[in-house]
Amino acid sequence: PELDLVAGARPNFMKIAPIIRALERRASGLGWRLIHTGQHYDREMSGVFFEELGIPAPDLALDVGSGSHAEQTAKVMVAFERACLERRPAAVVVVGDVNSTLAAALVAKKLGIPVAHVEAGLRSRDWSMPEEVNRVATDAIADHLFVTERSGVDNLRAEGKPPGSIHFVGHVMIDNLFFQLGQLERADRTGWVSTHFKREYPRYGVATLHRPANVDDPATLSRLLGALGEIAKDLPLLFPVHPRTRRNLEALGIALHPAIQLAPPLAYMDFLNLWKDAALVLTDSGGLQEETTALGVPCLTLRDNTERPITLTQGTNVLVGTDHAAIMREARRALAGGTRPGACPELWDGRAAERIVDILAERLS
Ligand code: UD1
Repeated sequence: PELDLVAGARPNFMKIAPIIRALERRASGLGWRLIHTGQHYDREMSGVFFEELGIPAPDLALDVGSGSHAEQTAKVMVAFERACLERRPAAVVVVGDVNSTLAAALVAKKLGIPVAHVEAGLRSRDWSMPEEVNRVATDAIADHLFVTERSGVDNLRAEGKPPGSIHFVGHVMIDNLFFQLGQLERADRTGWVSTHFKREYPRYGVATLHRPANVDDPATLSRLLGALGEIAKDLPLLFPVHPRTRRNLEALGIALHPAIQLAPPLAYMDFLNLWKDAALVLTDSGGLQEETTALGVPCLTLRDNTERPITLTQGTNVLVGTDHAAIMREARRALAGGTRPGACPELWDGRAAERIVDILAERLS
């Protein structure tokens, strides 16, 4: 049996990589084909990840690019349907919660091809997030649901998914994190982060922002940048800027505090090398909440909710929202050493992809 593995946007690439490694390593009898939808296409949002994560060039590039939600989703659907009709896979594996995830799942399901969703069951219960719509809709039609934390199992059961379709396997993104940490220890770091930034600033923080709710609304974006500026007075901040955020910063002409250093989006290893030694991470990313928890790095999440509650109950993550005073209070607390030490969540052990491959091999044979 042959799997179609679908990846489209930056946070997908680090989840697909360990699945490919596990498929190569295990004698599962499963073949595979890699499909890149092209949702992200800039070199720094896509190409550089393929090189660094050891993902082979895609067997098929759908090149859909940017657009409105409907356009982007529709373009993936049209192109991926053609691909499935030309060469019908035994199952389609989708990861995460981006538009490409839902689009590919819908196409497969309507062609009667089983859908496996990796990172299923997470729920923010915030319908204003496009990712929440993608998560709920993808899980509603997926046949094999691979879950990263126990809250996901509870959510899927409550939604009536058959128990036999729900598999708590751990987290492929954390598989990849541990793999890349090993690579980082062996590598000579010649990137700017190691050779310049970390040498100049032994103690620093890292900020990332890209969620539409935070960066598309000028008032919210200004408020968040104001808080980051105040933190930067005591703690130099490096802020790698997502293309969506860059566009909005340019359009609004917002002046940043000079102690906030802007950078283009970083490659995976450079970014890992940066945040793993940070005194504090401030972010609205989903994945970074989990990665900081896995390595015990203090993290403040600039959102009102999270679909990843294990990072709050066991990890180092604190939900601070977008209120200036709340951000400053929690930042001070974290920098004074007030972050709970945290524990690496259950099954975040580097072997999730192997479990997924074993289950798929058994179910599809
Ligand atoms: C998408 C995901 C989000 C994920 C994020 C990570 C959805 C609904 N959202 O959001 O969950 O956390 O990726 O990055 O799928 N752009 C470029 N170059 C690129 C890609 C995008 O310049 O390579 C710009 C374009 O102006 C585009 C905008 O960024 O319109 C937004 O890209 P899009 O893929 O629509 O969503 P993201 O905000 O990246």
